[in-house]
Order: sequence, then C-alpha cells, then structure tokens
Amino acid sequence: MCGIVGYVGKKAALPILMNGLRRLEYRGYDSAGVAIVGESLRIVRSVGKIQSLDDRLFGEKMIGFMGIAHTRWATHGVPSEANAHPHTDCRGNIALVHNGIIENYRELKEQLESAGHAFRSETDTEALVHLIEHLLKYPGTTLADAVRSAVRRVRGTYGIAVVRAEEPGRVVVARLGSPIVIGVGGGELFVASDANAIIGHTRRVIFLDDGEMAVLGLDGYQISSLDNLPIAKEPEDLEWTAEAAQKNGYPHFMMKEMSEQPEVLRNTMRGRLNAKNGNAVLGGLRDVADQAREIDRLIVVGCGSAYYAAQVGEYMLEEYAGIPVEVELASEFRYRKPIITSRTAVIAVSQSGETADTLAAIREAKMKGALTLGIVNAVGSTIARETDAGVYSHAGPEIGVASTKAYLSQVTVFALLTLFFGRQRQMSLSTGKRIAKELVRLPELVTSLLERTNEYRAVAQRYAWAEDFLYMGRKYCAPAAFEGALKLKELSYVHAEGYAAGEMKHGPIALIDEGFPSMVLCPVDSVYEKTKSNVEEIRARRGKVIAITTEGNNEMSRLADDVLYLPKTLEMLVPVLMAVPLQLFAYHAAVLRGFDPDMPRNLAKSVTVE
Ligand code: M6R
Repeated sequence: MCGIVGYVGKKAALPILMNGLRRLEYRGYDSAGVAIVGESLRIVRSVGKIQSLDDRLFGEKMIGFMGIAHTRWATHGVPSEANAHPHTDCRGNIALVHNGIIENYRELKEQLESAGHAFRSETDTEALVHLIEHLLKYPGTTLADAVRSAVRRVRGTYGIAVVRAEEPGRVVVARLGSPIVIGVGGGELFVASDANAIIGHTRRVIFLDDGEMAVLGLDGYQISSLDNLPIAKEPEDLEWTAEAAQKNGYPHFMMKEMSEQPEVLRNTMRGRLNAKNGNAVLGGLRDVADQAREIDRLIVVGCGSAYYAAQVGEYMLEEYAGIPVEVELASEFRYRKPIITSRTAVIAVSQSGETADTLAAIREAKMKGALTLGIVNAVGSTIARETDAGVYSHAGPEIGVASTKAYLSQVTVFALLTLFFGRQRQMSLSTGKRIAKELVRLPELVTSLLERTNEYRAVAQRYAWAEDFLYMGRKYCAPAAFEGALKLKELSYVHAEGYAAGEMKHGPIALIDEGFPSMVLCPVDSVYEKTKSNVEEIRARRGKVIAITTEGNNEMSRLADDVLYLPKTLEMLVPVLMAVPLQLFAYHAAVLRGFDPDMPRNLAKSVTVE
C-alpha cells in the first residue's frame, strides 16, 4: 500500500526521504515522488521503482531541509507520473501526499473546478490539495488552519503530510483511518506512515490517533484535534531496531524471515509459559482475566494468513479450552449482523495492526459491547491501541509481503491462548503441562525443518511445470492447507486451491489428472487414515501427489510421488511445523519461476484500504 515519509530539521532532506522510501518499498507500490521545500517548492515524480525516481533526480536542484515523499499503490487512476504523489495546487505552492481514499472527491472536484481550479490527475487525492489552496485564500489562514478545515470536509480515510512554499519549516500531518507516526529526533522531526521508514533515525515515536493532526517544525511539534484543541502526547520508545529490517546477507527478506522463525517462536513464548502450572502467563490479558473467565463465545476476525492462523486457533480452543469459537473473514464481519452478547469476546488477528477490514470489524464489535482482544505484531498499531487488551505476537518487523514468521507467531499465540482460556475452564493440569512441554520443543523442531531447504527446493524443481495445485488436509491441517495454497499462489502465481480433504469428492476431484498435482498434508494423526484415502483416490486418477507426513511413516513413500517429513509433535501444533515446508516450497517455486518473492505483483504488505 502507499507509503509516506517526511522530514523537517537541519539536514538535507532528500537523502533522508529517499532512504525512507526505500524502507517502505516492501509495502508494494507502482510509482513514487518527492517534494522539497528550499528556496521554492520542487517536486519530482516517476513511475516504477524508487531507482527510477532516483534516476529522475539526477541534476535536479532538490536542496532543502524539509520535504515529503510518497510511494503510491494505484487505486484511483493508473500508475503514471501525473497520478503519482506529491500532488500540488494550481500554483505549485502546496504539496500533499496521501494514503487512504477520499470518497467524496468527485463532488469536491466539481465544486473546485467551477471555482476555477485546474486538475491534472485522475486521483481522489488531488481534490484535497486544491481544497486546501481554496481555503488558504481567506486572509490570515495558515496551512494548518486550511488543512484542518479541508479534512473536516472530506469523507473517507486519510493519512496526509502537507508542505507549503510560503511556510518553510512546517509540515502539517493529519490522520483518519490511515496511520501516521511522528519520529522525534534531536532538533529534527520525521513523519511516516510506517515506523520502518524512520527507525534508522530515531526510535522515539508518537502515533497519531484518528481525528488528530500535528504541525511539525524546527521548534517542535503541536498535536491538536480537528476542533483545534491541543492534545498532549509524549513520545514512546519503539522496540524494533533498524537492523531487524535489513536483509543481512539473505537473498530475500522472505528467506531471512523464515530463517528467523525458531527465534520468533522463542520470543513469542518468552516469559509466557508456566510449565509447572501448565498455563500461559499473558501480561496483556491481566486486566481482563476475570472478564475472560465469564466469556462463553469467541469470534475471531482476520484476513489472509491471519484468518488461517485463526482457523487453527479455533480447532485448538474448541478441543482443549472447550470454548465455542467462530472464525470470520474480517471483510465479511463488518457487513453482517453478528450476534454479540456481553459474554462474547472478539479477537482481531493482524500482523500490521492496520488492516482496514480487521480494524472495522473490531470497531463494530466494540460498538456492540463485546470485549475486544488483539493478536497483533506491530507494537503501537491501530488495532493494538483500539482493542481492550491483547497479546503481542513478537515476530519483529516482517518486510516480505508473504506472511511467514508472523503467521507462525500467530498460531503460537493461539496455543498460548488455549492454555490461558483452557486452564480457566476445564483443561486439566496434566494436559496443560503436556501442551506447554511440547510448545517449548517447537523452535528446535522448526530449526530441523529449515535445514532441509534443499529437499524442498528439489521438489519445487520437479513440479516447476505445474500451473495448478490442489492443497488438502483435514482437521488442524485443513487451515494449514489453505495457508500453503495462499503462499504458492501469491508468490509464484501458480493457481493453487486449498481444500479440506473431506471436500475432495464434492467437487475438486474433477480437476485431478496427470497435469494437476496435489499437496496432501497427512501427518500421522487422528485423521490420518482418512487423508490417506484421499492420496489413494488421487493416485487412482493418475494425479501426482506430494505428501507431507510424519517421520517414520514409510507407507507414504509407496503411495505418493514425493514425500516430505515432519518431526512428531502434538496434533494441535502440527500446523506450526507444517508451515515450514509449505513456505519453502512456495519460496523456491517463485524463485525458480523467476519472480521476486519479496514483492509479488499487485500485492501490498498491509491493506489499509477496503
Ligand atoms: O497485517 P495483517 O496480518 O492484518 O494482514 C492480513 C493479510 O493481508 C496478510 O496475511 C496477507 O494475506 C499476506 N499476504 C499473506 O501472506
């Protein structure tokens, strides 16, 4: 999705802004631009990668100590130089970058055009900069006044940063539904839509809340409401380091992030497992522990991989904590009429903590009186701040567009929640201890799987011809199959369908022939015999099968074309292990097909618009 960076201070702004844009590249974009306020306001924009913007900057006099920059992911209007941000007013005196969507831009545009404003792009954003220009015509109006009045007239969502040639040394920012973080340095201020852009400069940050705006200058920052009431906010320290968001010698962020998974699991569980009591100590839930005891139904919302992690969680919580769970796509929940009582808790699962649909679902749940909980990775993100309580997943910054370590950490948090809710209810001490003991082993088991990457690469090579894939599994492995199929399709653009294996005969078996291979997840578990039958049925139709089963299960090598093995663990924890070969298979398939797994086409890391 789009990214914003801004700077005001005593250093040359351009290198800081360009470096920030590079750190936002992972979010996905199709054009970029930068505006510098020096002797005048200068803007350079270009379509394509940041490198082409860099090339365009050659020979340009972009000298100044203040500026804003943007990466755009097209929504209104094709990727083009004219549609790239920053957008300017008629006279080229104001520059604005925007994340989000201005829903009433057509009516604003009509009004502004009839007042004489000339539009140059197809974007919704341009209406906002002309509106600011229009409002500045009133004598004595400052940029901050005009921005305040302008955003009060728009419908939709925005995170914006605005500069004006006549007010050097001032950046005005505002937020509604699209994140804005202010970085506080020594005598300099930064702004970004994502802390990754500025973390190399400062870890002291202030997250703006919806309906807040700020004026940043050499004399400091002033935060206010849209009614112009001052808001006091102190900077907080970010835990993430700049190094954590570097490739550190790995060919891709995705490979680095998969390799980090054993450490991520340790971080997710650190200080949270009480092996003696077979319980999880979740500090983030301490304040709501009594309320949690009274909860009689959980609804879990998320999108993409977060949704699949939640489905694994549903199986765990129902089997071991005995609490009814419903998992819903956040994008559906927001438009349905969900039944929520005072004893319902709604859990939002999100790596970024900024996914628009998940955020909307949690707001809806809150309005209906539910206890809202978050399983969030990005510290200080909107979902983390808007939920009543929650558990950070502690995966660290995830730059690769495909969720890998974040997904694993989410599944692990569900295992911890199972202990937490289970021990509050019917789960025995011995069951709690057994789960806790097995959780502790996970990092070392994941390490052993990562060491087999060449095996996964060899299998990916043998199936490089396939344009379609069916992924199947039962019980805990059904959502694991959905997640595996998502990884393959998003990274390698191979058509992959994830199915609960029991559904095979209800339709997908019609697809099977020698040109349509299947990935069958069949660990030796309570449903092994059933899934084994699926393998036999596929083979009877000459379909190729890659089976992923448990070490020591030799019969699969007779039944399947290729077999990958997982170490033994508790059935409920198999999805954690299963994710590793599936991630690496998808990664190698993408690389073998010549695609960059870190930046799949059309995808954005964090989907902050609907
Ligand atoms: O930041 P979130 O966890 O809320 O993001 C949810 C999905 O957009 C995300 O998991 C997406 O499906 C990934 N590309 C999957 O790899």
